[in-house]
Amino acid sequence: MTDLFSVSGKIAVVTGGSDGIGQMITQGLVEAGAKTYIVARNLEKARKAAGELSGSGSCIPIQGDLATLAGIDAVVAQLSELESRVDILINNAGVHRFEALEEFDEESWDSHLDLNLKTPMFMIRKMLPLLREAGTPEDPARVINIGSTDGKRVSDMEHYPYYASKAGVHQISRALGRRLGPEWINVNAIAPGPFPTAVTDVGSPELREQIKKGIPCRRFGSPEDIMGSVIYLCSRAGAYTNATILSVDGGIAGA
Ligand SMILES: NC(=O)c1ccc[n+]([C@@H]2O[C@H](COP(=O)([O-])OP(=O)(O)OC[C@H]3O[C@@H](n4cnc5c(N)ncnc54)[C@H](OP(=O)(O)O)[C@@H]3O)[C@@H](O)[C@H]2O)c1
Repeated sequence: MTDLFSVSGKIAVVTGGSDGIGQMITQGLVEAGAKTYIVARNLEKARKAAGELSGSGSCIPIQGDLATLAGIDAVVAQLSELESRVDILINNAGVHRFEALEEFDEESWDSHLDLNLKTPMFMIRKMLPLLREAGTPEDPARVINIGSTDGKRVSDMEHYPYYASKAGVHQISRALGRRLGPEWINVNAIAPGPFPTAVTDVGSPELREQIKKGIPCRRFGSPEDIMGSVIYLCSRAGAYTNATILSVDGGIAGA
C-alpha cells in the first residue's frame, strides 16, 4: 500500500506554491519525497515557504509572473534548464474577487480569465516536452488543474469572471485528458470547496459560520484533504484516473 500511493523520486512543479492551497499541496508532495519546484511572483515569500519545507525534502523556488505568455515562457525556459523531465504539473495559481454584476470591470474579467484559464492552458502546452519525457504507459505524467466547486455550481455569491474561468478550467482538463492520455499524460482537475486561505479570509466570523452551514461536512477544507487528493492522483493509485473533475469540497457540489 505504501508503494501504491508513493510519489517518491518524482519531479513536481506547483504554480502558486508559496501560499494557500498551493503551499498545502507543496507540503504534501515534498514530505512524500517529490522534488518540488514552486513558482510565484514574490521570490522572498517563495524562498521562505521553500525554506520551511527544506527539512522534509527538496523544494526549490522559482520567480515568475504566470499571468502573461512571456512570463510562462521564462518559467518554462528555467525549468527546461534545470530538469529533463517533469512528472507532475499542478496549475494552482489563481485570482479571485467577489464582485456584483454591476461592479466588475474589464480588467477584472481579463485578469481572472488570464491567470485562471489562459495560464493553465499555455503552461500545459509549453510544458509538453518535459511531460512527454516523464510519461510511460505504467506511470503517466500527471497534470492537475485547480478548478473550484464554483466552476460546477452557482451559489448566492457573485463572482462572474471567476465562475467563467473555473468552468473553463474543468472543461479544458477533460478535453486535454482525452487528447493527451494516449501520450501517457493524464490531465485532471480538482474542484476545491472553501479552504482557509487569503482568498477566503474575507468577511466577518458570522459570514464564515454561515458559509460552513452550507457545506454538508460543516467545515472548511484542511491541508490533509487537498494533499491526500493530490497524492492519490499523482501516484500509482491514480494512474487510471484521467480527464475527470475531483470535487474536494465537503459535498457542496453534490448537495
Ligand atoms: N481558497 C479557497 O477556498 C479556494 C476554493 C476553490 C478554489 N481555489 C483555487 O485554488 C487556487 C489557490 O487559491 P488560494 O486561495 O490558495 O490563493 P492564494 O492564497 O491567494 O495563493 C495564490 C498563490 O498564487 C501565486 N500567484 C498569484 N498570482 C500569480 C501570478 N501572476 N504568477 C505566479 N504566481 C501567482 C501567489 O504568489 P505571489 O502573490 O507571490 O505571486 C500565491 O502563491 C486558485 O486557483 C483558487 O481559485 C481556492
